Amino acid sequence: MVSRGFIFGLMSLHLMMGCSGGNEMCKASIGGRRGACPPTWIQWGGKCYKAITEPLTWWEAKDECIKMGSVLVVPQSQEETEFLLQLQQSHFWINCNDLQEEGTWKCENDEVEFRNWSTGPENPQPDNWDGEHCAEVWVHQEGKWNDAHCDLQRPAICIQPAPQLHF
Ligand SMILES: *[C@@H]1O[C@H](CO)[C@@H](O)[C@H](O)[C@H]1NC(C)=O
Repeated sequence: MVSRGFIFGLMSLHLMMGCSGGNEMCKASIGGRRGACPPTWIQWGGKCYKAITEPLTWWEAKDECIKMGSVLVVPQSQEETEFLLQLQQSHFWINCNDLQEEGTWKCENDEVEFRNWSTGPENPQPDNWDGEHCAEVWVHQEGKWNDAHCDLQRPAICIQPAPQLHF
């Protein structure tokens, strides 16, 4: 008699073989992972997010996201900001800078122009204190933005579109 374990083994082998080589239909059929983000990425809306907890300079953070096939995040709404705040414990880099022209802030890959600089009464941001040209999100201030020295080491969050599967 053939054991149950053997049959299971055969079935999983069949699944594995049938699903090698990046067959999207097949990937989608396993465990209902249709449109799911890659492992270790977290889905929110139509996007996948990954927190880099290791502190990096702004440039390193940008590169690290690109290496993973993604880009450094730019919050596009307060709702997205609230989601991002759950991914990091401390201030994190975002994809905005005024490196080209002091005071002219540019955010890469932004679909809408969302900005939420900290408006603290003593210290409204960005204040370019001692030449700050890269933007970070302050977790302790409900996601308000601050300008910081690009060379400082901060965690970051990367973003990429969630896979779109076509049948
Ligand atoms: C900016 O952040 C605050 C939280 O600190 C939030 O209440 C507000 O809605 C945000 N502004 C915009 C334009 O979303």
